[in-house]
Amino acid sequence: MNIPVEPFKIKMVEPIQLLPREERERWLREAGFNLFKIPAEAVFIDLLTDSGTSAMSDRQWAALMQGDEAYAQSRSFFRFQEVVQSITGLPHVIPAHQGRAAENILFSVLVKPGDVVPNNIHFDTTRANIEYLGATALDCVIDEAYDPYREHPFKGNMDIHKLQQAIRTYGRERIPLVMLTITNNSGGGQPVSMENIRQVSQLCREHRIPFFFDAARFAENSFFIQQREPGYQNKSIADIAREMFSYVDGCTMSAKKDALVNIGGFLALRDDELAQKVKDLLILKEGFPTYGGLAGRDLEAMAAGLQEVVQESYLSHRVAQVAYLGQLLQEKGIPVVKPFGGHAIYVDARALVPHIPQEQFPGQAIVVALYREGGIRAVEIGSLMFARQTEAGNWEFPRMELVRLAIPRRVYTVSHLQFVAQTLGTIQQRAADLKGFRIRSAPPFLRHFTVELEELQ
Ligand code: F0G
Repeated sequence: MNIPVEPFKIKMVEPIQLLPREERERWLREAGFNLFKIPAEAVFIDLLTDSGTSAMSDRQWAALMQGDEAYAQSRSFFRFQEVVQSITGLPHVIPAHQGRAAENILFSVLVKPGDVVPNNIHFDTTRANIEYLGATALDCVIDEAYDPYREHPFKGNMDIHKLQQAIRTYGRERIPLVMLTITNNSGGGQPVSMENIRQVSQLCREHRIPFFFDAARFAENSFFIQQREPGYQNKSIADIAREMFSYVDGCTMSAKKDALVNIGGFLALRDDELAQKVKDLLILKEGFPTYGGLAGRDLEAMAAGLQEVVQESYLSHRVAQVAYLGQLLQEKGIPVVKPFGGHAIYVDARALVPHIPQEQFPGQAIVVALYREGGIRAVEIGSLMFARQTEAGNWEFPRMELVRLAIPRRVYTVSHLQFVAQTLGTIQQRAADLKGFRIRSAPPFLRHFTVELEELQ
């Protein structure tokens, strides 16, 4: 197996430690077995998310010092705007403090109660923002996406027939926009092909429905297109990204992923009138449109990060590092979603702990075991996140029960990943002993963040 050698060296370190087992056990109980409630200092290797957890480069840190903190028309905004425009080709660049703020503002302008918003698979914040407005978030990804072992180069693709069906059923009046999440986080970090983007774009244009990207991992998606889609091998990442964005009317972006920063986001839009409406609301909710809830220095760091993220040396290591963990797990016979995603490896919890039924959260059983065994923090993407009760009181479960091992960008080395694989190997040997969970208390929205659980005996 090729070792993914880091294309950087370490200039600054942050100590981490594996607490004694009894302390980990105590933290689990205090947190109601919810890893979002465990202090980060009690975590050894934190694979909870790749969001906002990147290590910034020396150039980004240097850029921070050049932040212009003017309230209006800051120099840093213009630099940021120029970089986003050069990558996306979209004229209106509107900062927001993170992805969900951009979503909230865009949807507040476009979406009304009773509307339907199709996506390949909505990420939980886009789904929640849409539902909060009284509309329906509809997933239209290809069926292959729901088979964890089905090899498909672009498993994040939208099923065009499902989208056509949605347009027929609801009519374009009830579909204020169509989205594509690149890469498709909730479906395993899988990419969307350029051909699919083009087809969705064409269909939307025919029906005069605005088409948007949820672009959080646009660079990783571009890299997969370069590697896997015929005709793109000799194109640069910047050219591929530019082509992708040429097919949309705009995007929401969580810069905490593919802009290599710890906080930030933006909207990029084509339409002047929509941009004006978005800016009007932005002033109310986020701040003046040249800072959008961020400091000038944050805009500088995003600008520098966006330039680094489209470099091939960065992306080829990034994707290889994630695949390396996937291969280590696969060699041990641990069931993982294939092909490997761009930002994370997803363990198929139902296959690893088949004795735990969906209503007892099999993914969470593995998440808890990872922390118990190795101080590793991961996240469940399954029933705990998505199961819901119908009006008749029945439970509807998601089709997959996954555990996501998200890899922060430029943070962990090969040996950290080896430790993660070793820990999962130990868990696998004792998988039959793992227990399910029951909910003790939960809020109505985004419950996985604050839910408390009880371990079943
Ligand atoms: N869209 C996608 C595809 C995401 O993955 C996320 C965040 C967001 C939007 C929201 O962005 O956090 O800046 O408000 N995903 C993180 C994750 C939280 O762990 O996958 P945000």
